[in-house]
Amino acid sequence: MKILVIGSGGREHALAWKLRQSEGVQAVYCVPGNAGAAIDASCIPGDILSLPEMANLAESLKVSFTVVGPEAPLAAGIVDAFAARGLAVVGPVRSAARLESSKIFAKEFMRQHRIPTADFAVLEKPADIDDHIGRFGFPVALKADGLAAGKGVVLAKNETEARATATTMLAGEVVGPAGRRLVVEQFLRGEETSFIVLTDGRDFCIFPPTQDHKAAFDNDQGPNTGGMGAYCDPDILTDEIRETVISRVVEPTLEGVRATGQPFQGFLYVGLMLTGDGPMVLEFNVRLGDPETQPLVHGMTGNLAQLLASAAEGRLDAGAGEWKAGKTTCVVLTSEGYPGSYPKGRIITGIDRAEACGAKVFHAGTRFHQGQIATAGGRVLGVTAGGDTLAESMENAYSAVKEIHFDGMHFRRDIGKKGLSRARL
Ligand code: AMP
Ligand code: GLY
Repeated sequence: MKILVIGSGGREHALAWKLRQSEGVQAVYCVPGNAGAAIDASCIPGDILSLPEMANLAESLKVSFTVVGPEAPLAAGIVDAFAARGLAVVGPVRSAARLESSKIFAKEFMRQHRIPTADFAVLEKPADIDDHIGRFGFPVALKADGLAAGKGVVLAKNETEARATATTMLAGEVVGPAGRRLVVEQFLRGEETSFIVLTDGRDFCIFPPTQDHKAAFDNDQGPNTGGMGAYCDPDILTDEIRETVISRVVEPTLEGVRATGQPFQGFLYVGLMLTGDGPMVLEFNVRLGDPETQPLVHGMTGNLAQLLASAAEGRLDAGAGEWKAGKTTCVVLTSEGYPGSYPKGRIITGIDRAEACGAKVFHAGTRFHQGQIATAGGRVLGVTAGGDTLAESMENAYSAVKEIHFDGMHFRRDIGKKGLSRARL
């Protein structure tokens, strides 16, 4: 089997690394990839938003299938473009990708299918602010309708802040056109978890639950980022909550999309808030999470290539999805200033030493520079390690982090900490 991975982050390096180890795989290609993906795959430069270019590439490489990492090509219709040329691909068609690319579409879909989620209203013009802003009390969540690279959600503490945010967002000043329509929704309290399934449209393979850490600083302080670290631990969900998520969220979602005539194929990522009233959907993504993928594939014992190929071909072999018993933690190392502006080109040392400690270091924003590896993005590396217990996996990841250095390196010191308090209950 030859496989093409689309994307350049830690998620894509982790996929390439695991796919290369899968039995039956002869070659893995990654477009455009990064300095780490280049170790596990043949990296090819390219514009991942140019759909004909991507389809030509998959065709000329004669790959068995392509897996799409990020949301933007999915929202642009890469799966439709590939399907039109008979090319196998893991990911949903454009119409199904609206579950992620339009918050309004997702909320209305959930309302229609009675999927538990926060009560909401849509804001389209300044007058709507007066009508709806106070309906759900404060704090309140304001969400840009369109894709906004993690910057489209503002949790406003009070009415003044909510009005100001809604006004500037609607004017296109916060996240551009993505914010010209908004969702205002009830604020939910609880613990967050990422629940991911891979589906061929009908059957699905359930991945173990993970927890991301979106805020830049310890104790969930500071601005939201793409994700500062994640751990994978089956104990995040009780069997009862897991069953609820499957029956009240996953099944009705897949059924609802199937009813449109264009089933959902690919990864359905359900962002959940575990509230006192049960699990509620915060968001859908139509792809794997980053950094959730890093601990997920690290702990996988099944054949990822076989699993993905079966989903792409519409005959899911869910048995190929198997994980070892322990827990896994991934700590993301970022450039100083991220998620704001940050410097690039800082030389990174100690990756080999970190891996000698037993961790796997997945690359995100890295590139080769005169024979060395240098920073090239906000999120730079994802140091990932397993353990029998969550505490052990955290210790293994953090002791490997100590070996790595680049100027201005930042990371959270509390990845996994919330899970430890759960283990004590
Ligand atoms: P989303 O992109 O919709 O997942 O939102 C980004 C982050 O904002 C989530 O991971 C939550 O931490 C937070 N958030 C979103 N919606 C709500 C809500 N209704 N109540 C509380 N927090 C929320
Ligand atoms: N880690 C959150 C995301 O991938 O959207």
